[in-house]
Amino acid sequence: MIFGRVKSLDAILATAEKKSLHRSLGAFQLTMLGIGAVIGTGIFVLTAEAAQKAGPGMMASFVIAGVVCAVAALCYAEMAAMVPVSGSAYTYSYAVMGELIAWMVGWALILEYAVAAGAVSVGWSGYVVGLVENAFHVNIPDALVRGPYDGGMINLPAMGVAALVTWLLVIGTRESAAVNAVLVGVKVTALAVFIALAVPVIHMDHFTPFAPLGFGGISAAAASIFFAYVGFDAVSTAAEETENPQRNMPIGLIGSLAICTVFYLLVAMGVIGSVGAQPVAGPTGEVLSPGSLELARQCAALSDNAVVCSKEALAWTLRSIGWPQIGNLIGLAAGLALPSVILMMMFGQTRIFFVMSRDGLLPQMFSKIHPRFHTPHVVTVLTGVFVALFAGFFPVGKLADVSNSGTLFAFAAVSIAVLVLRRTDPHRHRPFRTPAIKFTAPLAILGCVYLFFSLGYDTQMMFVVWGVAGLFVYFFYSRSHSFAGRGIIDVHEDDADTPPQPVPPLPGVHTPGGKDA
Ligand code: ALA
Repeated sequence: MIFGRVKSLDAILATAEKKSLHRSLGAFQLTMLGIGAVIGTGIFVLTAEAAQKAGPGMMASFVIAGVVCAVAALCYAEMAAMVPVSGSAYTYSYAVMGELIAWMVGWALILEYAVAAGAVSVGWSGYVVGLVENAFHVNIPDALVRGPYDGGMINLPAMGVAALVTWLLVIGTRESAAVNAVLVGVKVTALAVFIALAVPVIHMDHFTPFAPLGFGGISAAAASIFFAYVGFDAVSTAAEETENPQRNMPIGLIGSLAICTVFYLLVAMGVIGSVGAQPVAGPTGEVLSPGSLELARQCAALSDNAVVCSKEALAWTLRSIGWPQIGNLIGLAAGLALPSVILMMMFGQTRIFFVMSRDGLLPQMFSKIHPRFHTPHVVTVLTGVFVALFAGFFPVGKLADVSNSGTLFAFAAVSIAVLVLRRTDPHRHRPFRTPAIKFTAPLAILGCVYLFFSLGYDTQMMFVVWGVAGLFVYFFYSRSHSFAGRGIIDVHEDDADTPPQPVPPLPGVHTPGGKDA
């Protein structure tokens, strides 16, 4: 019964066929798209959190998280190429595993996108505050730039950037391919400069002990640093616009993940080797959890003189090794480039809400569009309010962990869906087939389960509470309002990714992820 209410794949596909976007993206553009969506707060900020959890062993954590993402990405790509419509994991699950699972995936994607946008906003704030303090010698009170779990009261800059991005989305801004290319250039240059300055001054003794907290610490850091790879789904969702997807999709996905992994490993090596990255312990030698008040207190006692205490790990490292101005420039690069990651995440969130509302699972009000800007303004503002609240009051690492729990659930669901569909519908045309599916999909599922159980207990509990809340909403509202449940399986022909009223195209804009979350 729980697998009932499946939405017909053919009806979903009818939407995509009607739209039939021009196939213009090649391997290079896909790779750029992936790097643009992926590099962000994870490497710029969470490196410090990973060091607190694993010490130098975080280098192994980057590899583990990268491998899990790579196998999940290959599964994602088969679905995305076969069902190239809005809603990504939510839509695939609706077609394959039915409404309840789809609802739970959509509900989990709220964590992936909205909470992640909050995390990136906090990461942005750390760099911009560090830049202002160091470049202009202005001392901004911690109370106004850190949340209550981080030794402050409220993170106003993080809330400000979330509000700014909300406004940009309401007025219809989408990032063009050209802007994406420039920002990829800025991020890659910043990381390359960091590597060039930090790696030559590494001391091998900073790498021992390599795993002060054992394999448990490495796994915990992998579960957190997984955040640094999230966003590659933007590549899968461009399937419909890709030339020769069978060849270019895996190159784009694996290529962008591989490039990011190499950068991440070199950056981690630079941080560990140049300034040391052993976890900070409490007064009795106990290990302190990142984002906890105890760690904030211990860091204050050390005058924040350890990379694990820094909110801007890469800039801090460069300042510590004698490059203060370049450290400021890294802060500037992060300040310029991270808002585009927030924009992509929030755009993804509004589209997921939109599709769920169009299916009747969320109130119809959510798919209302603005008469002038032709954007789903209600849902955009709602998303913005939540993102700003997350950003204002929670520490970056906790937000990233919670976001990861939702993402891991969605990735596992997609990997299962790919396997199920190979059995139930083996002859359907698949523009891209996951290589070695019998090995790749189970590995992706196991990898997601392993990383989920490596997240902290409180994060797992938060996910369970969120899931239970989702079930309540489903059984008390969505189930009875669902169009599929009421026999309406109409697919809007003109609106795979846009609100259900006629929407004139925005002049000169191009959606990076094709069209979708
Ligand atoms: N991967 C993205 C980041 O690290 C979400 O900011």
